[in-house]
Amino acid sequence: MPDLHIVILAAGQGKRMKSALPKVLHRVGGAPIIDYVLETAREVAPRTTTVVVGHQGDEVRAALARHPGLTVVVQEPQLGTAHALLTTEAVLGAEHGTLVLLSGDVPLLSAVTLRKLVDRHEKSRAALTVIAAVVDQPHGYGRIVRDGEQLARIVEEKDASPDERAIREINSGIYAFALGGLFEALRGIAAENAQHEHYLPDLVAIYRRRGRGVETMTVAKSGEIQGVNSRSDLAAIGRALREAKSADLMAAGVTIEDPATAYIDRDVQVGVDTVIRPGVSLEGSTTIGARCVIHTGVRIVDSRIGDGVTVHSHCVISGATVHNDASIGPFAHLRPDASVGERARVGNFVEMKKAALGDGSKAMHLTYLGDAVIGANVNIGAGTITCNYDGQAKHTTTIEDGAFIGSDTQLIAPVTVGEGAYVGTGTTVREAVPAGALAVSAGRQRNIEGWVQRKLTHKK
Ligand code: UD1
Ligand code: CA
Repeated sequence: MPDLHIVILAAGQGKRMKSALPKVLHRVGGAPIIDYVLETAREVAPRTTTVVVGHQGDEVRAALARHPGLTVVVQEPQLGTAHALLTTEAVLGAEHGTLVLLSGDVPLLSAVTLRKLVDRHEKSRAALTVIAAVVDQPHGYGRIVRDGEQLARIVEEKDASPDERAIREINSGIYAFALGGLFEALRGIAAENAQHEHYLPDLVAIYRRRGRGVETMTVAKSGEIQGVNSRSDLAAIGRALREAKSADLMAAGVTIEDPATAYIDRDVQVGVDTVIRPGVSLEGSTTIGARCVIHTGVRIVDSRIGDGVTVHSHCVISGATVHNDASIGPFAHLRPDASVGERARVGNFVEMKKAALGDGSKAMHLTYLGDAVIGANVNIGAGTITCNYDGQAKHTTTIEDGAFIGSDTQLIAPVTVGEGAYVGTGTTVREAVPAGALAVSAGRQRNIEGWVQRKLTHKK
């Protein structure tokens, strides 16, 4: 949109969050609150996007660095929403057309609604159009005061009379303005109110007095304009985002047995006919293929899971790759750069870190595989440990195709077990095992006859 400019307010402290973190950086559904607002802004393709920062501005600015093409202005001190918008005059004072104001703390607004707002505003040639909604719980919002049908003014909760507090039509804090005359009018907004702030909604009454057109656009789905002011709001928004994400996935052919307990971040992808059992958390950039089963209590972060994979209950998988038809868990821990080959199996109480387990290989019980390269069709016995750390540096264990590692084996890296070799149970492998060889290190077993009987007699 050629003559469209977007301003996002994100300078406020967010007092009601009671947090050391700036409000707009609190995460919900896998991303900071402000990312949702920036994404919606980008979808309507404005000519410019300006973000107003102030309270903990450096932290907010650093988080904005990932988003190209933004102008950041600083509001210092923060004297209210009208004052915040006024700080963008240096950037937008010479521009014409429409300015859309978004709040950095209203993440669910859709681009569809935003386009409608601009459309309505430009067609009506109003000086100001505000998005309004009728809600059950208006507490905390500015109320829309009408004079007949016409918008008369907006009154903040703290300044409202009991009658005005009973109004259920609220200000979303999202507006379209004609840029002509806007900054001049903002300068006329006083701070004579309960909070001693320069309130942007006061512009409504000012424009009315001057005979300029002020309009409302009512959204039916008030959930879209819900703001985050408290931790409870954050939880409510998180719930709404999760519901929407689960609904999208189900519509695309994923079974989610209990959407109320499915915690799936917005960027996560899941393939057709995958079944997600209750209490699963899929986070970050995770992708899951088709026909998988993800059982109860699994957490998967920034990982790639192929097709036909089963992840049994209570696994934690982070920064890992699992190839097609593999099986993981229960109770397995795949850490960054773990890779599990096709049809491979990783069983209970197995931890992998920076380790590749080849196609068709198995590590079924009580094992640590770190800094390891393990070929195809290898069997790793119960209680195998790759001793990868000597106190100073990490070293690699290499196990070639078809090798068999007996239970309770320690592999002191760097070390290699050759193709098809056997390592006997209870071996400490300190030297390379040639292909096809058997390695044993335990001493011969001694039996001491009658030992138990002698011990008991001695006690008496
Ligand atoms: C604001 C509106 C209220 C509306 C509600 C909708 C005002 C005075 N009130 O109230 O009518 O119903 O939003 O969510 O505008 N900010 C700055 N600088 C400041 C003050 C605030 O950048 O000096 C930013 C905040 O970071 C936030 C946004 O403006 O992103 C709104 O401020 P907030 O304090 O949350 O206003 P509300 O009390 O929610
Ligand atoms: Ca707010």
